[in-house]
Amino acid sequence: MAKEKIILTGDRPTGRLHIGHYVGSLRRRVELQNSGLYDKTFIFIADAQALTDNMDNPEKVRQNVIEVALDYLACGLDPTKSTIFIQSQIPELCELSFYYMDLVTVSRLQRNPTVKTEIQMRNFETSIPVGFFTYPISQAADITAFKATTVPVGEDQEPMIEQAREIVRRFNHIYGETLVEPEILLPDNAACLRLPGTDGKAKMSKSLGNCIYLSDSADEVTKKIKSMYTDPNHIRVEDPGQIEGNTVFTYLDAFCRPEHFDRYWKDYANLAELKAHYQRGGLGDMKVKKFLTAIMQEELEPIRTRRKEFEQDIPAIYDMLKKGCEVAREQAAQTLDEVRRAMKINYFDDAELIAEQARKFKAE
Ligand code: TRP
Repeated sequence: MAKEKIILTGDRPTGRLHIGHYVGSLRRRVELQNSGLYDKTFIFIADAQALTDNMDNPEKVRQNVIEVALDYLACGLDPTKSTIFIQSQIPELCELSFYYMDLVTVSRLQRNPTVKTEIQMRNFETSIPVGFFTYPISQAADITAFKATTVPVGEDQEPMIEQAREIVRRFNHIYGETLVEPEILLPDNAACLRLPGTDGKAKMSKSLGNCIYLSDSADEVTKKIKSMYTDPNHIRVEDPGQIEGNTVFTYLDAFCRPEHFDRYWKDYANLAELKAHYQRGGLGDMKVKKFLTAIMQEELEPIRTRRKEFEQDIPAIYDMLKKGCEVAREQAAQTLDEVRRAMKINYFDDAELIAEQARKFKAE
């Protein structure tokens, strides 16, 4: 049988999801889910990972599990096509992590660029929680438990996937071919790799207050785009404008399609023409922002509407998640069986081992 094609990815429930999540991975996942090209899709809410740096705030994590689930459903993730589940409800992941810890050195974790920057960002300095430090290992367990072949994530997750691949190779080398080496799937549009915040800062983040959330109202979206960072030297309309580092244009790169000009701005045939005019001078920021607003509202409106519908039946969402957890557990348990067998810790399933040792000790 050809190797199954399996998608897996997840998000930490530390807040509602924003359009950075959307263009970085969420939009792609829905396409992949609906493409019919994959045998299985697993999408999960990484609550246990969120607790590695929110251990003192379990209520925050718990409240955001449902927010993320709502965002998933609103974007079109469909529980009849994808298994949607909650990480902490799959204890098999802990056991896998425990064995993978033997395959990774402390210095290798210290070199993980994402862990490095996150430690700095959180001011952990010398008091780094062990669980946080080792979360790349637990993430390798998340991925391998489901034999994922394809992991759609943002660029910041690249070192995590690389570390998971190393663990797989080392495991298979020592214990025999058991685990599947995953591949990262990055957005193919550069603007989507790391969408800046509305203030032009490199990353959208809740603490910086520069996010547009999928669940923002139409008014909030309009307001946020109105105050968006552009080119600070583009003061008068006739001034030539710069598009590099200009957030409005980065967002257009991420969201604008040729048909949008047909619908909202017939003066230009495409984005290249619009950019050229802005660079020449004679095009004001407000006009461009209005265009962006129309595009964003078109994209976000159906998501908002669906979210409102799903919000009407929260118990049904917990039911859906619970069923997802059951399916996910079964898959993880099967992988764990194979791992235990490969690692020779499957004593009671190994009749041959017992018989052989029985013979050996009798003969002595
Ligand atoms: N670290 C990811 C994030 O912060 C979430 C995550 C946890 C994940 N386990 C994963 C993503 C496994 C992909 C695969 O967004």
